[in-house]
Order: sequence, then C-alpha cells, then structure tokens
Amino acid sequence: MTQIGIVRAMRVYVIVPAAGIGTRMAMSHPASGVLVATGIGAAAPKQFMTIGGVPVLIHSLRAFLAVERVSAIYVAVRASELERMRAHIADFQLDNELLGAKVHVVEGGENRQESVARALAALDAEADDVVLVHDAVRPLISPSTIDRTIDAIVRHGAAIVGLPAVDTIKQVERTADGALVTSTIPRERVVYAQTPQGATYASLKRAFDEAAADEFLGTDEASLLERAGVPVMVVAGSARNFKITQPGDLELAEFYLKRAE
Ligand code: C5P
Repeated sequence: MTQIGIVRAMRVYVIVPAAGIGTRMAMSHPASGVLVATGIGAAAPKQFMTIGGVPVLIHSLRAFLAVERVSAIYVAVRASELERMRAHIADFQLDNELLGAKVHVVEGGENRQESVARALAALDAEADDVVLVHDAVRPLISPSTIDRTIDAIVRHGAAIVGLPAVDTIKQVERTADGALVTSTIPRERVVYAQTPQGATYASLKRAFDEAAADEFLGTDEASLLERAGVPVMVVAGSARNFKITQPGDLELAEFYLKRAE
C-alpha cells in the first residue's frame, strides 16, 4: 500500500534585521523628542524613530503583515532593545493584531549579516519555504512589491528588489586628493540593490553557512547567494523604497506615507 504523506503548504518567512545602532539622526532630528514621550528611552536608532507617531520599524512590519501569504516575521534587535521592541509590539497590536500573532523578536548580532544569520537559525522552515530579508529602515516598501518578490522566488529560487540606475555610474579609485574616475559602467547593466531580498530556505541557509565558513562578510543577502552560485532575479523596485539614512529622510518618508493615506 502506498503511504500518502500530508504535504504542508509552502510558508513565507520574513527576517527584519533591526539591530543597527545608527543614532546620528536622533541627535540631529527634532522627531527624536517624540520618542522621549513614549517613556521607552531617548536614544533612538533610526528604526525606532517615529513617522506620524509610529516607529519606522512598525511601518515596515505593517507592509509585510498586509501580505496574507506571510506566515511569520522575525525581527532581530540588539539585546538592549528587546524590551523596547516588545513594548512596541504590545502598543501597536491594538491597531493590528497580526503584530502580536505573527511577529517574533530575536537578538541580533554585531553586523547585519550576523543579525540575519541569528534569525535564520530561529526559523522552523523547510527547504522550499520562502525566506525574505528586509531592512527595518525601509518603511515604504509596498505590499505589491513584496508579493512580486515572493512570486519571483517561487519561480526562480532567489530574488531581490532592484532599482534601475538613472545616473551614469563611474568606477573610481580613491586617492589622497579624492576619487579619480577609472571607467564608466553602462547604466543599463546596473541596478541599486534594495530589499526585500530572499531565496528558498535551503539556498539561503547554504549561502549563509558557506559565507560563515569562509569568513565572508557581505552587505546584503544577494552577495552571499551569488558566491554560493545561486542565480538571483531582479524585481523592479521603486525610489520610494529608500533606506532611511540621513537627516531629511524621515520628512520625505512622512510625505510619502501621508500621500498614500
Ligand atoms: O547599517 P545598514 O544600513 O547596513 O543597516 C541595514 C539594516 O541592518 C538596518 O535595518 C539595521 O538596523 C540592520 N542591522 C542589524 N544588525 C547590525 C547592523 C545593522 O540588524 N549589527
């Protein structure tokens, strides 16, 4: 008699590295005062600064929770932020109960790659499940882009969101006097890598294990997948999905979010 096994439906996991310590903006941006009012603490890494009273990180999580196929989200934060993160989940799950149901918090590492690796180790995933990684500080990611990235991973095995280059890109050499142009990279051959980036669990885990074994440190997941020989497709991104990095970015994000309402 043939044994018929129960096939479990594919799951989609999301890892959000949010353990960065960039606080430069907190000191230079008036919005940092809003965080003092929460009583959680004044020192605000970018992902905890607020837009319209809502932390940047919570905006990012809401975009993923709007995608029904997302089974669970793992947020990696520094040990000192675990309490603040849990408090935010408790506060904001009043408007979105999925926050409490689908979001898990893990401790991050010394760099982005280590934070993602720790979250990856916490997943109870199977080889064909989809794992997406998204920077906490890109709150304007749209649910439709997330959906297209999941589709691309299901179809091709790995994908990133990328933005076509509109500027001409120069390769340079750093000298004592400044940067010296050495060549021009045809812009049709270049995209800016955004997030989400992801792959099937088996490929992503292998890429991370190989990088760790070789002590390779990359700034995104695709760089690890590329060196592991995994082809990575590009899904069209948007200039709105920028990374909050410098003063002025919070105001720009607020402008876009208000317009979306
Ligand atoms: O610093 P960078 O711009 O590469 O940060 C991208 C994302 O990685 C941010 O969401 C940041 O919080 C996260 N990160 C992390 N662990 C670190 C450093 C950065 O999760 N040790």
